[in-house]
Amino acid sequence: MIEVCAVDDVPLGEGRAATVAQRRIAIFHADSGWYALEDGCPHLGGPLSDGILADHCVVCPLHDRRFDLASGEALTDGEGVTAHRVEVRGDRVCVELAPARALASAA
Ligand code: FES
Repeated sequence: MIEVCAVDDVPLGEGRAATVAQRRIAIFHADSGWYALEDGCPHLGGPLSDGILADHCVVCPLHDRRFDLASGEALTDGEGVTAHRVEVRGDRVCVELAPARALASAA
């Protein structure tokens, strides 16, 4: 687990971007807990950390695609994003990076 930020850095109902091991991730503090996803939307790279949290998902701020906060699965069109395991240790938020999602074949 890698320490990413303090609990107080991410208000309830919001997300924040962080760079961990040269990967851009989005940390979310939702009503249902803490989540971490790859930050770049697979559509056109919109920053999911700036997205709106709603019903266990985040809505991309650019074109409204939705992603499940826990799994990273796409709830609308297209591919999902990688989800990372999050653990709060005291007042620190820690993340275990998952392997990067393989890119879809262009075939
Ligand atoms: S960049 Fe996210 S939906 Fe288009």
